[in-house]
Amino acid sequence: LSLEEVNALSTDAFTRYFAGVLEHSPQYAQAAAAQRPFRSVEDVADAFRAAVQADTESAQLGLIRAHPDLAGKAALAGELTAESAHEQASAGLDRLSPEEFAEFGRLNAAYHEKFDLPYVVCVRENDKGSIFEGARRRLANTPEQERAAALHEISRIARLRVLDLVAGGDGT
Ligand code: GUN
Repeated sequence: LSLEEVNALSTDAFTRYFAGVLEHSPQYAQAAAAQRPFRSVEDVADAFRAAVQADTESAQLGLIRAHPDLAGKAALAGELTAESAHEQASAGLDRLSPEEFAEFGRLNAAYHEKFDLPYVVCVRENDKGSIFEGARRRLANTPEQERAAALHEISRIARLRVLDLVAGGDGT
């Protein structure tokens, strides 16, 4: 859809169209709908960031926890959302060697153990090497730093998903 068409959608149609921008969290599409009209695609992405920012800490933790582990059980079982499957494949996380897979499993487990959260990174802005490196580096963060880092990455993921959905966002 064009930006003009996005601005003209009913709240329900907007919420359905952008439901997948934040993983398993369509409620933020409804909040973003109320911030129209948008003047640019970046404005649309900002509305999602603002909706998350304005939410409670416990809802923010829920949003982080709505993300599946990268190269995790849901990925192996083919249970990812289309968006997540596409993103994980773009960085080759669906084609790890057995050694890489085992190492990533250890990093995911250490991350869950320390933060009680899944490790979330904007996969499309990274490659396999920087995703591994980020997991090791972020394990040194405090829980407060890590919640902020996860929400920042989620806003980057959401932005790229918005660019895919609005004509003119990336070459359409
Ligand atoms: N980064 C981009 N998509 C995802 C996802 O689905 N899960 C996690 N953990 N990180 C992501």
